[in-house]
Amino acid sequence: MDVINLDELQPLAKEKLPQMIYDYIAGGAEDGISMAENETAFGRIQFRPRMMVDVSQQNLSTEVLGDKINLPIMLAPTALHRLVHEEGELATARGAHAQGTVMTLSTVASQSIEDVAAETESPKWFQLYCFKDRDASKFLVERVEAQGFKAICLTVDTPRMGRREADLRNGFHLPPGIEIKNFDTYEKFKDIEPELRSTMVAAFVNMMFENALTWKDIEWLRSITKLPILLKGILTREDAALAVKHGVDGIIVSNHGGRQLDGVPATIEALPEVVEAVSGKAEVFMDGGIRRGSDVLKALALGAKAVMIGRPYVWGLALNGEAGVKRVLSILQEELEIAMALAGCPTIADIDSSFVQMRKN
Ligand SMILES: Cc1cc2nc3c(=O)[nH]c(=O)nc-3n(C[C@H](O)[C@H](O)[C@H](O)COP(=O)(O)O)c2cc1C
Repeated sequence: MDVINLDELQPLAKEKLPQMIYDYIAGGAEDGISMAENETAFGRIQFRPRMMVDVSQQNLSTEVLGDKINLPIMLAPTALHRLVHEEGELATARGAHAQGTVMTLSTVASQSIEDVAAETESPKWFQLYCFKDRDASKFLVERVEAQGFKAICLTVDTPRMGRREADLRNGFHLPPGIEIKNFDTYEKFKDIEPELRSTMVAAFVNMMFENALTWKDIEWLRSITKLPILLKGILTREDAALAVKHGVDGIIVSNHGGRQLDGVPATIEALPEVVEAVSGKAEVFMDGGIRRGSDVLKALALGAKAVMIGRPYVWGLALNGEAGVKRVLSILQEELEIAMALAGCPTIADIDSSFVQMRKN
């Protein structure tokens, strides 16, 4: 995997993967406006670098929910890693561990919670989709807690799946041998026709996922777990304030990589109002469009505690398994280290909003 930046990964992955799978990962909802904006919006932010700062001792480590990580870049939850690599989430977990950061395991994983947990001792988070059948969510949360995961990220932007036109065109389905693994042992799901479970992901999701989730459900989630709760998919100051009011431990500013409501702002542009509304009462993270270490520096300057990446590490996994995931993280780490040195920030604690400004035109 001979790449020197993250943009070089996607065309290589496109050559390697079947079109249906490539499109599933690359695609956004409808016109893909928000997906594209996530990346281009970083270009509207400029640095205000400081010179004559001693950057001979750089340190990129930070703490997230009390755990130390080597770099402020984590892996966002993405579904079904075995679509792109036979070891799937096991390779991803090892890649994150090798670079010293957090992997977030998706509800819609193709390897089980237990198998992924056994792979590394690094801190791992779990992404929860809430099911209409609350016992199904509880079934996942109890296992995650038992396996030592460090946080639950409840995804709140998916009452229904966004309309992803490439998937509709391709009739996206799971190839034989690949399954949504976490429900193998859930009694009630045994009644779901195998066809629906394995071949029609969007229909499965729309049938199972809760589309009546409201703020009172945070209390329910709190009642079934002691783990920190993060909400993934918040984009406004109003919801950020409500999240704090309901006692969440963290917020992930996200538009699902532009795969849900098309036309929402780039996440880097939604971040400042969320940070302001949260006012230090919870940790704020963001994902969407991070392709450069300098993007990470901009997000941290605007108040994110750390960022998450999605598609880039899936491409890395597709191209070279564990080593591919590690390489993606290490490219970003090196770029971030250089950007921080050039901006005059030896450590993460030195980064603040004085290092960025909006482009003037
Ligand atoms: C192929 C794919 C699958 C995803 N699956 C999930 C998922 O299961 N749960 C979830 O909360 N977000 C999911 N996401 C959204 C990511 O967590 C993240 O918000 C997004 O990928 C970040 O944008 P980026 O891809 O530009 O880095 C998925 C994204 C992609 C590309």
